[in-house]
Amino acid sequence: MPKKQKRDFNFDTLCVHAGHDVLETKTITPPIYQSVAYPYESADYAAQLFRYEIEGFMYGRMDNPTNKMFEDRLAAVELTDKALATSSGMSAIFIACLHLLGKGEGFLTPSKIYGGTNKLFSETFPKMGFNPVFINDASNIENWSEAIDDKTKFLYVESPSNPNLFIADIPALAKLAHENNLPLLVDNTVASPALQQPITLGADIVIHSATKYLSGNASCISGVIAGSADYIDKIREKDYRNIGPSISPFNSWLLLLGMETLSLRMKKHCENALAFAEYLEDHQKVESVHYPGLKSHPQHELAKKQLSGYSSLLSFVTKGELLDAKNVIDSFELIIHTGHLGATKTLATHPAFTTHQQLTQEERMTIGIPDTMIRMSIGLEDIDDLIEDVDQALSKIR
Ligand SMILES: Cc1ncc(COP(=O)(O)O)c(C=O)c1O
Repeated sequence: MPKKQKRDFNFDTLCVHAGHDVLETKTITPPIYQSVAYPYESADYAAQLFRYEIEGFMYGRMDNPTNKMFEDRLAAVELTDKALATSSGMSAIFIACLHLLGKGEGFLTPSKIYGGTNKLFSETFPKMGFNPVFINDASNIENWSEAIDDKTKFLYVESPSNPNLFIADIPALAKLAHENNLPLLVDNTVASPALQQPITLGADIVIHSATKYLSGNASCISGVIAGSADYIDKIREKDYRNIGPSISPFNSWLLLLGMETLSLRMKKHCENALAFAEYLEDHQKVESVHYPGLKSHPQHELAKKQLSGYSSLLSFVTKGELLDAKNVIDSFELIIHTGHLGATKTLATHPAFTTHQQLTQEERMTIGIPDTMIRMSIGLEDIDDLIEDVDQALSKIR
């Protein structure tokens, strides 16, 4: 490995090796540098370091060798110059946007985004003088084009979106953004870089809730931003340093291990999710199924162009009423009811009462989240066991 530039290797190899030089650390597993500070070799060295004239480690709130290994690995697989790891997906989104905004400025985003992101944008940002503009029909590029004005600083999408699997047309939005000298930010959490590399589709900045597929087994809350060296360096030197949303080295270590199996896991996630979605589509107790891998998904053709697999997130609407959906959730025996996605275990959530309960019912209906919707994150179990479980749970619907 050391003889070749790590960037020259293919995706699966980068997931296993990038960022970690085994000969340098003398370990085949990345070490955890559990230290908040690092000795400066001289007064001059320290002065240069603090003026950002040389690379090095300053203080654990800003940098850490284990964190750097994860950041370098992520940047390699997302095809960006650099990455910056954060304490959570939300802090990654917050700081990625904050850096680009001044008081009175805004950005455009589809309404169909994760509920937590929606609340960051609609509740917290206005308190800071930022003005996000929500696009309801975000599949129509005209709607974006018309909403851009001189206060718009970037376009933001989550694709596929959680939980309604909206697919943003990344190349079309990148073109529009660049015609207006704006960057396009993509939350790539649901696809992971194994299924979609937004940079190859024209995006400028990629964000992850690393808590999900990158980690893979629900073991650490974490986030990451990937982008140009200039953008990442400036965030690290200013907002990241001032605010302190740093990641623990232990979590970076878990992410390094998680990424080693990312490709393998994503293949099995996709295979299981497609079989699960196809099964539900024919089920008489199911009203509708939303999964970009199904031909019935309104954006299946676009998803096919942008993704090499359709990930493991799907949602379905049960027949009947609220009580019926609750019954299904409460009847799962193997599937776990919780507010998470992207883990090895199959998880189910009732968005209207958990992840999206902060929205009003009207807001939920606008973004297509009825009370009877169940969101599933399909894991790596045997598909027959999963189908048996959902089947017995659906049989509880009157
Ligand atoms: C698409 C997406 N982005 C961001 C987040 C926030 O991530 P975290 O929980 O790591 O803060 C989530 C959480 O579910 C998510 O689904």
